[in-house]
Amino acid sequence: MKNATLRNRYAAAVTALCLAAPLALFGCGGAPASSQSDSSQSTEQSGSSQGADAGQNASSSSDSGVKTAMSEDGRLDLLTLVNKEYALPDGWEEKLDLVKVDNSKGETVQIDKIAAKAFEELQEDLRKNEGITIELNSGYRSVEEQKRIWDQFMQEYGEDYVREFVAKPGHSEHHTGIALDAFLIENGIPILTNEEIFAHESTWKIIHSYLPKHGFILRYLNGQEDITGYTYEPWHYRYVGEQAAKEIMDKGITLEEYLDKKPSTSMAASANSGSTSSSSSSSDSSGYGSTSTSGSDSQYGSSGSTSESSTSTSSSATSY
Ligand code: DAL
Ligand code: ZN
Repeated sequence: MKNATLRNRYAAAVTALCLAAPLALFGCGGAPASSQSDSSQSTEQSGSSQGADAGQNASSSSDSGVKTAMSEDGRLDLLTLVNKEYALPDGWEEKLDLVKVDNSKGETVQIDKIAAKAFEELQEDLRKNEGITIELNSGYRSVEEQKRIWDQFMQEYGEDYVREFVAKPGHSEHHTGIALDAFLIENGIPILTNEEIFAHESTWKIIHSYLPKHGFILRYLNGQEDITGYTYEPWHYRYVGEQAAKEIMDKGITLEEYLDKKPSTSMAASANSGSTSSSSSSSDSSGYGSTSTSGSDSQYGSSGSTSESSTSTSSSATSY
C-alpha cells in the first residue's frame, strides 16, 4: 500500500509537470510520438472520419505488435484509437490545432480547438441545468511530458502500477489533444483527491449523461479494464463527435468495441512498456456509470480495487 501523503506529494509534482508541458506548445515534444514508442510502426489509412464505418480505421501491425491508424486525408480522425495496442499515428501532432485554456487553479491547459469548444458547451450546459461546475485539468500532453510522468511513476510506484495505470509515451490518448481530464468544483473548491472524487460518483454520473450531447465519451469504463487497459476514470473524456458519442454511450460500450478493435487478450494484463513482464489484472463489475468500488484513481493511476492483481491502492492521491 502506498501512503497517501506520498501519493499526494507525488501527484503535486505531476501537476507541476503537466502545467509546464502544455505551455510548451504542440510539437514541442520534438520527435513524433511514434518515434518514441516502439521502433517499427507503420501507418495505414482509413476511410472517413465519422460514424461507425469511419471507425474501421485500417491498421497495421508491426513486428513489435504496435499498431497505428490514421484517416485517409491525414487529418485528425476523431475515431482514431490510441491505447496500449495502438500508438499515436505518425505525423499526428503536426495536424493538431491546439488552443490554451486557463483553469481556476492558475494552470494553462492545451487542448484541440474543436474539443475545447465542445467542452466549453458541456461546462455551460452542466452549470445552467445542473448547477455543476467542471474545469479542465489536463488536455494535450506531449510524448515527452508523458515520458516524464511515466518515468516518475515507475520510480515511485513500480512497474506493475505503471502498467495498469499510466500510458506509455506514444500511447496516451492525451497526445491526441482530443482527450481531456476534468475536475469538479464544489463551493468554489476543486475536488482533487481520490477520496473526494469518488465520493462524488452521483455527480459524475450526471456529468457522464451530458457527455454524448457534446460529442464526448467516458473512455475508461468501470469494469472494462480488460478492454481499455485502464481502471475506471470518471474524469477522462474523449471527443469523438456527437454521432459516435451517442451510439457509444447509449450502448455503454468502449471505444475499442465500437471500432471492433477489442483486444484478443486482456489489455489490462498486457505489458504497457513493451519490455516489462506481465501481470494479470482481471476486471469485474459493471460498466460505465456504475458506482466505483475502487478507492481509486488519480489522473493516471488508480487503485482499482476491482482488479485482483492491482498493486495500487488509492484513496487519496490527488487527481493532479
Ligand atoms: N491515465 C491515462 C491512461 C494516461 O496516462 O493517458
Ligand atoms: Zn486522462
